[in-house]
Amino acid sequence: MVRYLVTSALPYASGPRHLGHIAGAYMPADVWVRYRRLRGDEVLFLCGTDEYGVAITIGAEKEGVGYREFVDRWHEEIRETFKRFRIEFDHFSGTSRCRHHAPLAQAFFTNLLRGAYVLEREEKQWFCPKDSMFLADRYLEGTCPKCGGSARGDECRKCGQWLDALELLNPHCTICGTPPEVRATRHWHLDLPKLCRERIGPWFESKLRRSREDSPAAGTWKENVASFVANMLADLKPRPITRDLRWGVPVPLPGAEGKVLYVWFDAPIGYISATAEWLERSGRDPGTWKEWWLAREDTRIVHFIGKDNIGFHTVVFPAMLHGQGTAFGGTLALPWNVPAMEFLNLEGEKFSTSGGWYVPLEEFFERYTADSIRWTLLQNLPETADTEFTWADFQRRVNGELADVVGNLASRVLRFIETHFDGRVPRTQGDPDPAEGEALAACGRLVHRGIAPALDAFRFREAAGHWLAIGRQGNQLFDHQRPWAHIRDRKGRAAHTLAACVRILEVIAAAGSPFLPDLSERLWKMLGVDEEKRPRAWPGEDLSDLPDLHGKRIGHVENLFRKIEDAEIAAENERLRERARAVASGGKVPVPNEPTPMPPVPPAPAAGSPEITYEDFLRLDLRVGRIALAERVPKADRLLRLEVELEAGGERRQVLAGIAKVYDPATLVGRRVVVLANLAPKKMMGLESRGMVLAAEGPEGPCLLQPDREVAVGAKVK
Ligand code: 2FM
Ligand code: ZN
Repeated sequence: MVRYLVTSALPYASGPRHLGHIAGAYMPADVWVRYRRLRGDEVLFLCGTDEYGVAITIGAEKEGVGYREFVDRWHEEIRETFKRFRIEFDHFSGTSRCRHHAPLAQAFFTNLLRGAYVLEREEKQWFCPKDSMFLADRYLEGTCPKCGGSARGDECRKCGQWLDALELLNPHCTICGTPPEVRATRHWHLDLPKLCRERIGPWFESKLRRSREDSPAAGTWKENVASFVANMLADLKPRPITRDLRWGVPVPLPGAEGKVLYVWFDAPIGYISATAEWLERSGRDPGTWKEWWLAREDTRIVHFIGKDNIGFHTVVFPAMLHGQGTAFGGTLALPWNVPAMEFLNLEGEKFSTSGGWYVPLEEFFERYTADSIRWTLLQNLPETADTEFTWADFQRRVNGELADVVGNLASRVLRFIETHFDGRVPRTQGDPDPAEGEALAACGRLVHRGIAPALDAFRFREAAGHWLAIGRQGNQLFDHQRPWAHIRDRKGRAAHTLAACVRILEVIAAAGSPFLPDLSERLWKMLGVDEEKRPRAWPGEDLSDLPDLHGKRIGHVENLFRKIEDAEIAAENERLRERARAVASGGKVPVPNEPTPMPPVPPAPAAGSPEITYEDFLRLDLRVGRIALAERVPKADRLLRLEVELEAGGERRQVLAGIAKVYDPATLVGRRVVVLANLAPKKMMGLESRGMVLAAEGPEGPCLLQPDREVAVGAKVK
């Protein structure tokens, strides 16, 4: 038997997931995993949040919160989103919360260094003199030298190419807008040409050969993936795998203080650390992650991703795995398949959370069900080219397919049984009509020669189409046999028809559970089949292993799907456009990238804070201040604008504090607080903050420090 280790791309813990993400790396994976389990395969399904890197630091700084708080919040939120879609991982980890992650990522780095797959180089990089930092990745923006589009330091938004930041035209710092200067810094580069020569190139060639034999069982790669890899392998350079940043897995070398591993280096190792954490949480030895990751005939690794992640999963991560040599006691497995999706757009445009062009999922689930969106996404998955979600299509799919085909079949059949057969699936006598036999045979074929091979080869849309065809078979049979016309004088014939239709409903419930788990559960309930009696296996072609329901009482019959009104769709379209208009007309957060008022907590694996002298401490001008004014900062849900007196009745300082979630501004006026008065001024949300109000990190958020007796405003704190 084969085991599968299935992963979905680790989402950055820096913002909400949108429907495009769900259609890319998550829902197809969930469908596939459920299907494989029905086929009897052992599957481990892993995901977690990607919690380091510049996407996180910039996001947190924009909001004025610490990195830890920021990633914790998004971790929980993203986990909830997946639950609502009924995307059910065996384990959902996170790269900064898993204790195995940093040590493992560091071991990967060290092993690569030992194998001479890492080159140390002194190199030139953009440095912002104003912010005193090297501008890694998204801290740098400019114009793409290849296509002229707007580009970030690491890649172009328009053409998607990986860039050498020094080639960017018109570079500027995304924090302060200043053009940066070039300075020297030291970094480590992964020797991709060498790794690919040794192993990745030949391995990819062998994958292609198998693809030509066109056998999905051998792990045929999709065309879009194979052509991307071929292009990439033709033009390889060593890639930097370290950054000058405060948040990340520290580079495990003496003299590399302040340097961390590039997020794309540590993130895919997150799949492995999540395996270790899953083992540990299930009471096993986390060190046995190797049983899943060492190359074995019986274990296949499948990475579900969106197209922007192809290079990392098909070339860079495999190269990193190869470069481990036998340091973990054997050769690590390279992926068996990487079924990447293209992009899903929304009503003709790219999804853009910051541009307001998205569907807020929270609101979505107040009005619609997981089945309705899973179905619509399934039918529109961007398997070979970009596709679209439109509200009109959503309505058409829910009303015309789910309600009119599947829902209709279930209610007409089961209500007929309620009315004419006293709520019991009729027992039959004699031979059925040939039409019934044919319909059931057709359903068996759809399950076995339609859905199954399509899912084996990651063709989800085709599989969904075959499943819907089973529902159509059922309706056609009912229409053709007209049981209502025979119920009086030929009840036995009607009984055959109804029993056959019930069987078709069973097929729909059994083969539909990977696509629509809620529908499947509700349908089994309506069919009167208790949980423990429901089949856990993929139906055989002759359907004989489905529960025999002749003579059994059915459950309570209800409508499986609610039809969506035209007015609802019009309102959704209006809300979408309204959201985008509001953002365009200034609702957008105006100053995007500003530093955090609370000092970020250092990354988990970093050693304790460095020692300072008393003189160092005396350099801090800490004083007792009095809050004279407190108000919210528009569009920043965490920030309060404070005016603080540092001498009684004297000058008021403007200080911004990330405490709005915990403190009502009205309760703050008059309070004594501790202020760091000589902190260099920083701009946040377009406002200058001159100083910092000290707070402890409490379980519910920041907790302001306050003298415990009356002291004069301006009193020194030491
Ligand atoms: O593109 C992204 O959202 C990345 N956070 C995906 C990482 S996948 C894996 F390597 F962790
Ligand atoms: Zn700058």
